[in-house]
Amino acid sequence: MSPSSSKIPYGGDYNPEQWPQEFWDADHRLFTRAGIDTLTVGVFSWSVTQPAEDTYDFTVLDRVLDRAAAEGRQVCLATGTAALPPWLAKAYPEVNRTDFEGRRHRYGQRHNFCPSSPAYRARATAMAARLAERYAEHPALLAWHINNEYGGVCYCDLCADAFRHWLRNKYVTLDALNDAWWTTFWSHRYTSFEEIEPPNALTEHWRGPDHTAFQGITLDYFRFTTDALLGCFLAEKEVIRTHDPVTPVTTNFMGMFRPLDYHRWAPHLDFASWDSYPPLDAPPTRAALAHDLMRGLKDGAPFWLMEQTPSTTACRDVNPLRRPGELRLTTFQAIAHGADAALYFQMRASRGACEKYHGAVIGHAGRDDTRVFREVAALGVELETLGDATLGARTPARTALLFDWDSWWALEISDGPSRLVKYQEVVHAYYRAAREAGADVDVVPHTADLTPYDVVLAPVLHMVKGDLAARLEAVAERGGTVLATFLSGRVDEHDRAFLTDVPGPLAPLMGIRIDEWDSRQAEFAQPIPQLASAGRLVFEIVQPRGAETVATYGSDFYAGTPAVTRNAYGRGEGWYVATALDQPGVDQVVRRVLSRHDLIGPYADHEGLETAARVAPGGARLLFLLNHAAQPAGLTAHTTATDLLSGKKVEAGDPLTLDPLGVAVLRAH
Ligand code: GLA
Ligand code: ZN
Repeated sequence: MSPSSSKIPYGGDYNPEQWPQEFWDADHRLFTRAGIDTLTVGVFSWSVTQPAEDTYDFTVLDRVLDRAAAEGRQVCLATGTAALPPWLAKAYPEVNRTDFEGRRHRYGQRHNFCPSSPAYRARATAMAARLAERYAEHPALLAWHINNEYGGVCYCDLCADAFRHWLRNKYVTLDALNDAWWTTFWSHRYTSFEEIEPPNALTEHWRGPDHTAFQGITLDYFRFTTDALLGCFLAEKEVIRTHDPVTPVTTNFMGMFRPLDYHRWAPHLDFASWDSYPPLDAPPTRAALAHDLMRGLKDGAPFWLMEQTPSTTACRDVNPLRRPGELRLTTFQAIAHGADAALYFQMRASRGACEKYHGAVIGHAGRDDTRVFREVAALGVELETLGDATLGARTPARTALLFDWDSWWALEISDGPSRLVKYQEVVHAYYRAAREAGADVDVVPHTADLTPYDVVLAPVLHMVKGDLAARLEAVAERGGTVLATFLSGRVDEHDRAFLTDVPGPLAPLMGIRIDEWDSRQAEFAQPIPQLASAGRLVFEIVQPRGAETVATYGSDFYAGTPAVTRNAYGRGEGWYVATALDQPGVDQVVRRVLSRHDLIGPYADHEGLETAARVAPGGARLLFLLNHAAQPAGLTAHTTATDLLSGKKVEAGDPLTLDPLGVAVLRAH
């Protein structure tokens, strides 16, 4: 269930309670000029709507919503429970978090409530209930936005108790827990749940959150934190539902955000939404990967782009400006990957505090003749033109990439083989290779149905759970290809090593055995001659057990042993890459896999050109062409189609030119 709309909702975070009402007329005049039809309201208004424990005051919010409705705009209404009012923290100090070092915080900042605090929970749900009661029938209401960017960890005594309760539910007996965490190691056998402490700097950790003596407890604390914050979300959702059974509910995620396993949240959202602030200088595939991960949360259903900056961020040391045309390109990139809404943070710039320099559609001077405003308005016209053409469209991917928070956590909190291997980087390298070869990719959880896919990429799948190995074998059995990499198939769901040859349950499919692995500093490059490329960080020493060697290590005592293998399995293949290949090496391997299934796209050799397909509910096939290069892209059309943005028709074989940063949305005839 996602919000129904006749076009892509366009707008963003709007906090008019932060400035005098005289400005509101100008705000709405400018919104109309820019084609803004959707406002996210109330994200940080708790201290206005509840100035004291026993005082609620919705006068301002009423005006904001009524005004939106009068102007024909829709509202994504936030419950505002991510930033506490000072009175709450003063009256109930336990709502403030205790940090990793064990320090109880005092009032300040935002996104900092203890998820286990009944005082917080009661007041947050009371606020959500009052909002739902008041605005469920409001004509402007389009969607509910619970809280904001859930995240962070608390180690207070309330959380310790909640953790013990969570463990009792999960393990039932202490024997099961002791076995899972392997506690006989270092004399840790627990004899009572009360003896268990949250893993932090005062207990199991040294050097920080990734250095733990017991991976089992640390992993469970990640899972517990995911569930504890999810509990806060669910409590608010439940009270909203008592007053409003229909309006779709979401909360804004952060893409590849390590602290929370969004796959555990996904079933509880009516639709997924997320805030895109790609790392500085990241290639375009980085944002694309996060979009595809978010689309994968609800089984491929479209998501909302809840926030992006129209121009610049403020929180980084260095905050580059988005170049002319970049905003349009990133917005269409989001749409190409499944976004059914395009929203900004923020509509008008804050006058004070830490985000006063954060980009906004309307700057401090309130002008409509700035470059940013003009670009926003031009995009508004294009989205109007696009109408409902892309709404509800699905991605017809035949390649899946497995993304697994447990593997991410387990890999990065492991002592050995290497602290230098970063989950996101390896996953991104494989994703990038597939995308740049022109394949659409679904980024899916390990529990996903794999039957629609010809190719399944499983980079650094450190933890293998449930029946996954059998389902991967089934992919190969019927002719598909499965690719796994170094440090895959190492541990079970409790981070215990498999008592078999590496790569554990993946070994039969890969046709290999690994007894040893080497790891080296980042500067060291191990030549891989057959790929004219290099491997880094980790070098597993592979013994083929049925697999054929595709490429070998070029130096050291394991020179000549396989770095890349391919195993015939059923009618398909299992590929294994035993080292962190550099990008050109990954590209070659992935292209060989994709070409076996005819999945290399027609524009794979155009550097900087991204393609993405969607199929609209009526069956129309949409092809997005996105030119990330600073030069024009000269292409040839492959089908007869109409560009929905320019209205121009192209026949197969016609030349097709994209401007630098240019976009085309081709609807095939
Ligand atoms: C996040 C938050 C917003 C704002 C922006 C600034 O995404 O949700 O409230 O702070 O960052 O980039
Ligand atoms: Zn706590």
